[in-house]
Amino acid sequence: MEKNIMILPGDGIGPEIINETVKILDYISFKYNLNIIYEYGDIGGIAIDKYGTPLKDDTLEKCKNSDAVLLGAVGGPKWDTTEPGKPRPEDALLKVRKELGLFANLRPVKIYKPLISTSTLKEEVLEGVDILVLRELTGGIYFGDRNRSSDEKGEYAFDTEKYYRFEIERIAKLGFKTARLRNKKVTSVDKANILESSRLWREAVNEIHKEFEDIELNHMYVDNASMQLIRNPKQFDVILTSNMFGDILSDETAMISGSIGLLPSASLREDSLGMYEPIHGSAPDIAGQGKANPVAQILSLAMLLRYSLNFISQADIIEKAVNNVLEKGYRTADIFYDKKNKLVSTSEMGNLVLNEIKSLN
Ligand code: IPM
Ligand code: MG
Repeated sequence: MEKNIMILPGDGIGPEIINETVKILDYISFKYNLNIIYEYGDIGGIAIDKYGTPLKDDTLEKCKNSDAVLLGAVGGPKWDTTEPGKPRPEDALLKVRKELGLFANLRPVKIYKPLISTSTLKEEVLEGVDILVLRELTGGIYFGDRNRSSDEKGEYAFDTEKYYRFEIERIAKLGFKTARLRNKKVTSVDKANILESSRLWREAVNEIHKEFEDIELNHMYVDNASMQLIRNPKQFDVILTSNMFGDILSDETAMISGSIGLLPSASLREDSLGMYEPIHGSAPDIAGQGKANPVAQILSLAMLLRYSLNFISQADIIEKAVNNVLEKGYRTADIFYDKKNKLVSTSEMGNLVLNEIKSLN
C-alpha cells in the first residue's frame, strides 16, 4: 500500500538537513520497495514571506491526510516580533500539533559512546544514560488563554496553564506503556507544591498508575528535576511532564548528551499519524554554510519509519548507520572537538550515512 509523507523543510538549516534526509529516504524506499510518496510544503517564516501566513490551510490539510509529517525547523530573527497579532513561524508548529491532535512528544536522549567527551558532564555521570522525555504537547500554557490589558496599576499580560483530566490521563497511560518497553520507571514532573494544575496532574497520574503496578512511579518537582538531571541523570527512565516543563527539561536533557544536533523527536496521537522533527531549532546563524548536522533529521526519519509506517528493520538500519559513521570519527562542526576526528560538511555527513546504509544491506 502507498504511504504518503508530507515534508516541511521550514527555515534556517531546515532545508539543508531535509535534503540529506531525503537522499536516504529515496534510497531506502527504492531498495526495499516501500512505495513511499512524498510532497513538500512551506511552513514557518518562509510561508510568512510567500503567503503572509506561517501555515496555509491546504498545507495543513495535506498534513492531515498524510501518513506522517517530516519537519525541519522553523523560525529566525527575521520573523521575531513581540507585536501582538503579527504572524510568527512558531504559530505554525503549534497549529500542526493541535490540529493533528499530536498530544505526545517523545524526545529520547541517549549517550553515544564515541561522543561522550562532548558533554559538559563527567563521563562517569553519563555512562549508560538512556532517558525518554515524554512531553504533553497539545495542552497547558501553550494553548491556554493569554492576553494583554491594563488596569489602574498599568499594563499587564497573562498566560494560563489549564489541563483537563483526560489530557493528563492519556499521556500518563502512554508514559507507563512506554516505560514497560524500557526500564519500567516513570518520573512524573510537576510543580504540585504551587500549581493547582499540577495537583490535578499528580492525582490523575496516580490514578492511571493503578493499571500499571509493574511500573515504578515517582513524582518530582520541576526545580528539583532540573537539578537531578545534572546531578545524576542515570536515575531517570521515562520523564512524564507537561508541555511547558517538557519544553524546558528536554533542552536540558539534550545538552546532557552533549549534542543537540543528534536528537530526533516524534509527536504522536493514538493512531499512527505522527510528526517527526529534530529537537534543535533552525540555527539561522549557520544556515546555508554546510555546517549543520543532519543527523537529528536523519534519525527523525528513522523514528517516522518506525512509529508511523511500521518499517522497523529500515529504521534499525538508519540508526546503525549513524552510529557506525560516528564511531569512524566523522563529525560535523557542532560536535568536532577532538582534532583526531574528521570534520565534515552537512552533505558529506549525509553521504557518509547513505553509503553506510548501502554497505549494511
Ligand atoms: C520545541 C520548540 C518549540 C516549542 C518552539 C519552536 C515553538 O522549542 O519544539 O521544543 O516551544 O515547543
Ligand atoms: Mg523547545
